[in-house]
Amino acid sequence: KNVALIFGGKSAEHEVSLRSAKNVADALDKNLFSPILIGISKEGSWYRFPSDAVFSQATKIVDKALPPQAEPVALISLEGKPVLYSLQNQSKTNVDAAFPILHGTMGEDGTIQGLFKMVQLAFVGCGVWSSAAGMDKEIMKRLFTEAQIPNARYMLLTPYKNTSYQDVVNKLGSPFFIKPANAGSSVGVHKIKTVEDFEKGLKDSFQFDTKVLAEEFIEGREIECSVMGHNREPQASLPGEIIPQHEFYSYEAKYIDDNGALLKIPAEMTSEALQKLQTLAKKTYQVMGCDGLTRVDFFLRKNGDFYVNEINTIPGFTKISMYPKMWEASGLGYRDLITKLIHLGLE
Ligand code: DAL
Ligand code: MG
Repeated sequence: KNVALIFGGKSAEHEVSLRSAKNVADALDKNLFSPILIGISKEGSWYRFPSDAVFSQATKIVDKALPPQAEPVALISLEGKPVLYSLQNQSKTNVDAAFPILHGTMGEDGTIQGLFKMVQLAFVGCGVWSSAAGMDKEIMKRLFTEAQIPNARYMLLTPYKNTSYQDVVNKLGSPFFIKPANAGSSVGVHKIKTVEDFEKGLKDSFQFDTKVLAEEFIEGREIECSVMGHNREPQASLPGEIIPQHEFYSYEAKYIDDNGALLKIPAEMTSEALQKLQTLAKKTYQVMGCDGLTRVDFFLRKNGDFYVNEINTIPGFTKISMYPKMWEASGLGYRDLITKLIHLGLE
């Protein structure tokens, strides 16, 4: 089967995507699947790369600095079948499935899933609405609340609403977090303790989205759980814990500083807590319409209450990423995990 691994993209998580894609490409079982490497540049153009040298050559795919072998391609439908079309030599390659390894907007948010649907291409992971709702933290929280999934209290900030620092503190207490509604990897996320933090933080957050959430700070442990399978029968992994060594689990703590966070897998907890967590992870997956895979992130308060922070419909697959590690701890190795995810996409 020809599997298109699609990576890069226009989002602020372009570099994270390249790291994830490298690991997925390495782990792909070449006896079962032939990889087709498709990188989307920062500008949004699609290229096919002949070898995985793309991952070592560049931390970014930029139109002006491409290796000479990169071929412009388009994903189209021909005679009712999905085909990758090379614009250079007008050749066509059949594609059996797509594995989008794109984090953030224009990839994790339902946009590329819509394209796959249009060209009738099977793909790994969640569908259009689930991806879109999972990307937008405001919509996600509304769905959580309606389904009685506990989540942190928040306020929606928009550039034309002029909510003051004091308004937020009155409602959510101090400190609090601000985060762009549509972003990932903690890009644009700030912990706010002062009015100066607020002003500076907002300026940055609004670079990534026109909607920013102010969110209550929940003191407790950060726990994550990997979920996989079709929506009607999800499976949950053993949980993992993140112990940030910075003020919080920021972009720097994740990807820049090698010692930015300690990861503990499996996370220690009683069997009742584990049961509660896995039940809530699977419920969240079902409420959000997920299919294929999703990582569910939690806060665990000292009193034993779990809060769902968010879901990640295309979670990271980098060296430090929790999704594959939690499956590994649950007895499913990296290679088998990737095979299973592709098979779920093909079913
Ligand atoms: N958004 C990053 C890739 C994650 O959730 O792992
Ligand atoms: Mg996220």
